Amino acid sequence: MPKSARDIVLMKNSKKITAITAYDYTTAQLCDKAGVDILLVGDSGGMVILGYENTIPVTMEHMCFFTEAASRGRQNAMVVADMPFMSYQASKSQAIENAGRLVKAGADAVKIEGGNEIKNTIRSIVEVGIPVMGHIGFQPQTTTLQEGYKVQAKTKEAAIRLIKSAKALEEVGVFSIALEMVTKEVSKIITDAISIPTIGIGSGLYCDGQVLVVHDILGLYEKIKPKFVKRYLELSQEIVKAVEAYKNDVVSGKFPTSEHSFSMDKSELERLKKEIA
Ligand code: KIV
Repeated sequence: MPKSARDIVLMKNSKKITAITAYDYTTAQLCDKAGVDILLVGDSGGMVILGYENTIPVTMEHMCFFTEAASRGRQNAMVVADMPFMSYQASKSQAIENAGRLVKAGADAVKIEGGNEIKNTIRSIVEVGIPVMGHIGFQPQTTTLQEGYKVQAKTKEAAIRLIKSAKALEEVGVFSIALEMVTKEVSKIITDAISIPTIGIGSGLYCDGQVLVVHDILGLYEKIKPKFVKRYLELSQEIVKAVEAYKNDVVSGKFPTSEHSFSMDKSELERLKKEIA
């Protein structure tokens, strides 16, 4: 049985929660095999898969497509899908309908960017029975428009706003909160102040769990290299080397060899040759 929202909540104060993004069947299968607790079908897929500059152009159609593929690859992990920009802001009914579409596509829960200002919408999704992960701190869908990439909660006032948002999200029933690019001190205050897990991205050690973009940890995405990412591989270099080697083998005739080819029976070949002659 895949992990549920309840399983994730129960991990608080007992075991660190691990999450990683996945947007397709193969990657989801590999990350699930590695034992992560949550596969996040992030709208970051708009950047690392579709090549957009940011997550703003991502649509519900993109997210359903990614979610269907990733959820087919999982066995044990919980699948959480991002609600893309403008898929939940227009009305509560729009938000409920789109959250439902992601669940029908294979998600076990949805993630929504926003704090206090979005709490009533989140409550209405939770009330229809869809688990929601909150997302505060740096919010790529809107903070990018307002001020660009910036560490959050650096001042007392900003920290208090964020703590209030975390409390408000807890109150309306989210099962966890992603904290993006929040100072580690404020992440600790929030983590200690709420009963549900915090999942940090660039928010330091004290969160209950961590999430990163899979293309970042594998060294596949070269455009942006955030300071908070630990790169465990430099896969893009390896891929370029492998494809170059393949190209050179084809050009020089080293590939394919008989090992990679299929043969006809000798007698059948003789019959064919005779016929052609
Ligand atoms: O879209 C995304 O990948 C995210 C992050 C929290 C990883 O929202």
